Amino acid sequence: MKMTLIEKRFVNRKKKSERNIKIIESDFKLMNLTKTNTILELGCGVGFVSVYLAENYQFNVFGTDFDDEQIDTAKRIQPEIKNLHFQVEDASQLTIEDSSINLVISQNVFHHVPNWQDAIKEIARVLCPGGYLTWLDLTFSNLVKNIFLPFVKNYGLYTIEDIKSTFFIHGFKQLLQEQTAHGLMNQHHLLLQHS
Ligand SMILES: C[S@@+](CC[C@H](N)C(=O)[O-])C[C@H]1O[C@@H](n2cnc3c(N)ncnc32)[C@H](O)[C@@H]1O
Repeated sequence: MKMTLIEKRFVNRKKKSERNIKIIESDFKLMNLTKTNTILELGCGVGFVSVYLAENYQFNVFGTDFDDEQIDTAKRIQPEIKNLHFQVEDASQLTIEDSSINLVISQNVFHHVPNWQDAIKEIARVLCPGGYLTWLDLTFSNLVKNIFLPFVKNYGLYTIEDIKSTFFIHGFKQLLQEQTAHGLMNQHHLLLQHS
C-alpha cells in the first residue's frame, strides 16, 4: 500500500537507513557471500540502503518499491551507479525471474503488505537455492492481531510465529532471530536461508 506524505517524511531518512545497513552488515558475517552477486531490496523507499550496497560491494543491486513516487525520488536524488537498478515492483507479485537472486532484503515492508503470504511465496520463488533473506519488521501479539484483523484491510497483521511458519512452509531455515523492539508492536529481525 502507498504511504501517506507524512509517513514518507518519517521513513525516507538517511539516518534511519544507517541502522538498517548495520543490521544487514551484521548478517553478512553469518552468510557465505562468495557466490552472492545479485541482491533484491524490497520496499527500498528512496534507496539509501541499495545505494550503500552498490557503492561498497561488487553486488548487482535491484532497489525496488511498490510506490512509483518512491522510485522516481530514488532515481532523482541518488547517484547513478552502473550496478544499481531502481524499479517498481510489488513484493507480492514480482516480475523477477525464478532463482535469479542470491539475497533478498526486506526491512519494514511486510506491515504494509496485506497479502504478505504472497510476498513470502515470491521471495522463495526468486531466491536461488541456498540464497538468503534478511528480514526486519513490526510484528504483533495475538491479541492485537485478533482485535484489528476484522477492520484493517490495507496493512499486514501477523505474529512472528505466523511469519516464521509461513517461511518454513516455503523451504526456509532460520539462521538468526532477534527481537529489536518490545511493546504492543514488537519488531523482529530474521536471517533465513532458502533450501
Ligand atoms: C516503512 S517504508 C520502509 C522503507 C525502508 N525499507 C526502511 O526500512 O526504511 C515501507 C516501504 O515499502 C513500500 N511498500 C509498500 N507496499 C509494498 C509492496 N507491496 N511491495 C513493495 N514495496 C512496498 C512502501 O512504498 C515504502 O517505501
